[in-house]
Amino acid sequence: MKISELIERIKQWHEPYVAKDEGRDLILGGNPDQQCTGVIITVCATLEVLKKAKEKNCNFIITHESILYGAKEEDMDNDVVQYKKRFMEENGLCVWRDHDRMHGNGLPFQPERKRNDYIFYGLMKELGWEEYVEGDSMKPLWYKIPKMSALDFADLLIEKFHLNGLRLVGNLDSTIETVWFSEHVQGGKMDKGKLKGGLKADAIIPFEIVDFTLTQYVVDAAEMGQNKVLYEMGHFNAEELGMRYMCTWIQDIVKQEVPVEFIQAGDFFQYRGKKA
Ligand SMILES: [Fe+2]
Ligand SMILES: [Fe+2]
Repeated sequence: MKISELIERIKQWHEPYVAKDEGRDLILGGNPDQQCTGVIITVCATLEVLKKAKEKNCNFIITHESILYGAKEEDMDNDVVQYKKRFMEENGLCVWRDHDRMHGNGLPFQPERKRNDYIFYGLMKELGWEEYVEGDSMKPLWYKIPKMSALDFADLLIEKFHLNGLRLVGNLDSTIETVWFSEHVQGGKMDKGKLKGGLKADAIIPFEIVDFTLTQYVVDAAEMGQNKVLYEMGHFNAEELGMRYMCTWIQDIVKQEVPVEFIQAGDFFQYRGKKA
């Protein structure tokens, strides 16, 4: 089976999908017109992931995020970009991005959702939280979980998301019950809505986040004694379980014709605490 064939099968699986063009779901490197030797699924095809793919003799990599340091693959040109491109070419690796389809988005956000958001759906499945979902189950962002302490909840996230650690903001004496994945909190107009969401949640798990909106709100709410904690694991870590879950559903598409493996892009963050 050619890589291009497999890409077509995956696109069909995502139907109905309404899009003017391919949006972000593009070939980001390499030649899709070659036989597929194996599939690697990852949230982000970093250089390390590409090296591991080569070691495993898998030449098709599905990445959720862009890989050349732009929102789309703008023409970035520096020594690292050149090295990464050369690495893909010389090792016959083909990278394709499954982003817009994974999120079940049309133009780019359909007025009416027809498909699950498979990043958040997969995250729910990997956490085993189906019974705790509140509200939209096609894009589950809200959960009501059995009550636990703020620090036990931190430990749970570190374990489930395979993290090196977590940045915690807020009241660590809180009891966690209502959990909200807030997605990006980037300091723009959307943040008014994010603050409204933050009012209702005990635990807030953002992607990217700025300090001056939701973070500061949590700091002050906690100072007032409110039950509120922000768990900052970062954007890629937060979406990674959705891609891990892709290994489950892609089996129906690949039909065991080639091996499929998930590679964790890895928690980029390393922590050094203050010296005692
Ligand atoms: Fe993302
Ligand atoms: Fe995403």
